[in-house]
Amino acid sequence: MKKLPPFLKPVSSFAAIAFLLSSVALGQEEANYDESKVPDYVLPELLRFEDGKTVRNEAQWTKRRQELLNLFADYVYGRTPEAAEKVKLKIDVTQAVTDFLGGKASMKEVSLSFPDREDGPTLHLLVIAPKEAMGKPVPAFLGLNFKGNQSIHPDPRITLSKSWMRPDKEGRVVDHQATEASRGAASARWPVEMIIDRGYALATMYYGDIDPDFDDGFENGVHAVFGKPKEGEWGSIGTWAWGLEKALDYLELDAQIDGTKVMVFGHSRLGKTALWAGAQDERFAMVISNDSGCGGAALSRRQFGETVKRINTSFPHWFNDRFPEYNDRVGDLPIDQHELLALMAPRPLCVASAEGDEWADPHGEFLSAKFASPAWELFGKKGVGVDEMPPVDQPVGETISYHMRTGKHDVTDFDWTRYLDFADRHVK
Ligand code: GCU
Repeated sequence: MKKLPPFLKPVSSFAAIAFLLSSVALGQEEANYDESKVPDYVLPELLRFEDGKTVRNEAQWTKRRQELLNLFADYVYGRTPEAAEKVKLKIDVTQAVTDFLGGKASMKEVSLSFPDREDGPTLHLLVIAPKEAMGKPVPAFLGLNFKGNQSIHPDPRITLSKSWMRPDKEGRVVDHQATEASRGAASARWPVEMIIDRGYALATMYYGDIDPDFDDGFENGVHAVFGKPKEGEWGSIGTWAWGLEKALDYLELDAQIDGTKVMVFGHSRLGKTALWAGAQDERFAMVISNDSGCGGAALSRRQFGETVKRINTSFPHWFNDRFPEYNDRVGDLPIDQHELLALMAPRPLCVASAEGDEWADPHGEFLSAKFASPAWELFGKKGVGVDEMPPVDQPVGETISYHMRTGKHDVTDFDWTRYLDFADRHVK
């Protein structure tokens, strides 16, 4: 296995040339899946201010944290427009039942809309809470879903999403609309009963309610309200993360939910989103990145699996307008993704990979967790707590959990069991 060069070691001119050549070679061609072809790279130092001074304690970390947050906004995800930060959405509870899951849980649908914009998008939040939440607020998982709220559980009372949807292989989406056949289609990824049985609530929302996931020149979704992004402003990941924060604004008011114990979860592009939401909003008590890969937990400089260039080419609407400038020179980015993970410190963080998901670079996700760990140490906590990547299906970690599960790019009960155990340990 390739050894990382020590931090701050000056890159030799040979390594620099090799790096340059390899980035050109990797460009738009086949993704690299060969560890020996990972270019030499030097990670930006987590605990060093931009002016070169060292970060030694919690107080200094608060400043460094702000510096990093600004860098991620400026170079990767874009800034949230001020109007979006300030806006207060109108809350309407549109349905509430107390006999969900055969009486084990309550189910509520809440719509969040723009007060002065009848044509604006409406975010539909589904909240499922265990019976005991009637008497005492419970901790909750909050995550965006890919196929509408009705996809997470087959109960026909969940409202079928009417929002624009990407076509699916199974034909459950017709003319960009979810059909009845999509009910429960994603239930394997959302083990509702298991979550409820463990005493947690689950809140979810369709990501396309916030911004439909295609490159439309930023016309629809919340862009219709806040306008086309100005230079340096958010892409779709920024809008989705904003939607999570708005959902949390609501959950803080919900008597069934303990607003200080809301954990943000996301898979894949929505894992990138969960990380960006958790970074910006420290109200999230725990952050979960499931197979988030490039632009999420994986180190960009490794260029293993999906690269920055590939992601910006395939999904030009996800990030800000500056990130693509680094397509062919990721080594010049002032940040790498371990520093995004560090923005969760000192809160608990879960990073999960799948063995068959090389596109998301499991090893790069582990290294990111490892190199983020010094941020937790400033608080007297341990991050991932191990140096070597653990064997498959063996979760490790103190305040950062890491595991690589057998199988493909997905969310399974194995992943959720770890998240629930970690939540029991750190949040409940
Ligand atoms: C694509 C994309 C990934 C993303 C994934 C997903 O594979 O390249 O970056 O994580 O889709 O969201 O499912």
